[in-house]
Amino acid sequence: KAGLKYFGAATDTPGQRERAGLQAAYTQYDAILHDPKQFGQTTPTNGMKWLFTEPAPGVFNFTEGEVVADLARDTGKLLRCHALVWHNQLAPWVESTTWTPDTLRAAIVRHVSAVAGHWKGRCYAWDVVNEALDEDGTYRKSLFYTVLGEEYIKLAFQAAAEADPGAKLYYNDYGIERPASVKTAGARRIVKMLKDAGVRIDGVGMQAHLHADNHPSMQDHVDTMSAYAALGVSEVAFTELDVRITEPVNETKLAWQADSYRNVAVACTKVKQCVGITVWDFYDPFSWIPVTFPGEGAGLLWFEDFKPHPAVKAMVDAF
Ligand code: XIL
Repeated sequence: KAGLKYFGAATDTPGQRERAGLQAAYTQYDAILHDPKQFGQTTPTNGMKWLFTEPAPGVFNFTEGEVVADLARDTGKLLRCHALVWHNQLAPWVESTTWTPDTLRAAIVRHVSAVAGHWKGRCYAWDVVNEALDEDGTYRKSLFYTVLGEEYIKLAFQAAAEADPGAKLYYNDYGIERPASVKTAGARRIVKMLKDAGVRIDGVGMQAHLHADNHPSMQDHVDTMSAYAALGVSEVAFTELDVRITEPVNETKLAWQADSYRNVAVACTKVKQCVGITVWDFYDPFSWIPVTFPGEGAGLLWFEDFKPHPAVKAMVDAF
């Protein structure tokens, strides 16, 4: 419906899952992940991040990212690539270096060119800059911003456009799903800043790490996406969707969660620039939520015993 091209699920590499102490149930997991009728798109949750791709200055390693890129190819899925410039999961050397504007510019260009260049032609889209905004909608005071100001954003998009001209280039963030939030205004400012500078940006990625208790309405999503589209980006997408629940999980909260997933799905079918929805993995035991938000969980679509959440039916009905 509308512009919708895919419904997908992000996944980690098996090596990462094992290092996190998770080993069971891969067969059933893989059967769902690989099924093209379940998911038409995937994103590596970790493997393409700076930490893995450039562990030492100018030394590149594509092994982890390649696992998910190959999986996308072998199972006929679109690949969203994530993320070129982000303040988290940086290689330690990036954080310990004393940068000047010149050396940091060169490091950003080298990183983006090498990583986007490596997967050239294989990424439907790249999250070029991730989470450049603070909670109050101003720029996050990352090392990139501290040394270069907003110039680092332009630089990253320019280098990505040069390295992989066919990939859609996205600004990606969380908390930018509601039309009136200061952070959403911040994301609109970034789009406008790039457009005014003549730098290509094709899309805004709304991570959509939502909470079942207090989730955006369908109209919120439509209004937010319409406002991004009005700035001239040809695409918007839900890039990391999950809807966490405060433990204990019960029927009421699962119904709120289903409503939240439904709102995203219905809204995406109503806005022609909305190209797709990616859930940030699909199997609760592999979710980042319980690790990052203690006391919260069950944010994805399949419970530990592989029974589907009520949200699955809600989404299927919406498409
Ligand atoms: C998360 C991964 O899922 C975790 O495995 C990792 O430990 C931390 O990062 N925003 C993003 C994603 O853009 O890259 C993050 O992924 C979740 C928040």
